[in-house]
Amino acid sequence: MMATKFDKYRPIVLGIESSCDETAAAVVGADKTILSHVVLSQLSDHEKFGGVVPEIAARKHGEVLTPLIERALEEADLGLKDLDAIAATAGPGLIGGVIVGLVTAKALSLAVDKPLYAINHLEGHALSPRLVGDVAFPYLLLLISGGHCQLLRVEGFGRYRRLGTTIDDAAGEAFDKIAKMLELGYPGGPRVEAIAAKGDAKAFKFPRPLLGEESCNFSLSGLKSAVLRQANEIADENGHLTDQQKADLAASFQAAVADCLEDRTRNALRQSGDVSALVVAGGVAANEAIRSKLTALAEEFDTSFVAPPLWLCTDNAAMIAWAGLEAIASGKSGDDMHVKAQARWPLDPHAATVRGAGVKA
Ligand code: KG4
Ligand code: ZN
Repeated sequence: MMATKFDKYRPIVLGIESSCDETAAAVVGADKTILSHVVLSQLSDHEKFGGVVPEIAARKHGEVLTPLIERALEEADLGLKDLDAIAATAGPGLIGGVIVGLVTAKALSLAVDKPLYAINHLEGHALSPRLVGDVAFPYLLLLISGGHCQLLRVEGFGRYRRLGTTIDDAAGEAFDKIAKMLELGYPGGPRVEAIAAKGDAKAFKFPRPLLGEESCNFSLSGLKSAVLRQANEIADENGHLTDQQKADLAASFQAAVADCLEDRTRNALRQSGDVSALVVAGGVAANEAIRSKLTALAEEFDTSFVAPPLWLCTDNAAMIAWAGLEAIASGKSGDDMHVKAQARWPLDPHAATVRGAGVKA
């Protein structure tokens, strides 16, 4: 290849993300330059259903992905031929959307003869703090999003030890369900946090499931039921709650979730041995009540607290491109064209299985 103005960034990777309700494309260089990063949220397509509808998500990804990739390349001011590799989320996630992204990546990879990297979406989240900072391996990651609630010891590229996961609901899922219950709309997290600011976190004493136990697993569905019971108890004869009652329920619920996350993360810090930092990622990492608990916890363990910027905490393709770059740096060669999209794909296949109905991979 002839010398070009892009050489200082090389290798350069195009990342593609389509595993949930965000379609995203990004171009990232090995020197951590984010040459472009575009995200298209499908929020308005799913809002009226109160959650993500997989079929609608897949169709929408199919419609918007190619133009979005074109836009990412345009913003980065380069063409497909200038790339060194293409990285796409291959799971876990809503399978229809994952297939759209992976098939598109395969087609591009074949068209321009560049290696394809099939990325685990969770690996994208897990490695994301290294794209914007100098976080050294190993570190402890608390991943709290709409679909995941996990504690992982990130030991290197491809080396993850899962210390705990949820045995029922993910943290964001719990926020979204409470928001639905309080008729706040979707997505629930930010709205629950907003009204919680006007409420009394001590108004109701909700359970803190598993608190005080040694494990690092989470359970949030009992807490959700407790909020529902309490709401039914205090509602008027027509089932209505006042704004203040809603605010008190939201604040008390949020405090209980924050306590649970703090307690499990404390166990993980005790069990994980030496780590360079406590890192939080996923949409729920936006929550201030949770962040402040985790900041204090990191201080307690004399370790640093890292929260990547919000755009990088939520679903995006820069983290997928970055995971591709970490794969290249580790010496991994590209995946072959038969690599499959997977709805479930645990980062740590050796992790002990945990009991519970809705265990998330
Ligand atoms: O990482 P994310 O954008 O998407 C995935 O689930 O992968 O996370 C979205 C989740 C939603 O459940 C949303 O309600 C929650 O993150 N969330 C919050 C806040 N902002 C977003 N939860 C609590 N407090 C927030 N401020
Ligand atoms: Zn995610």
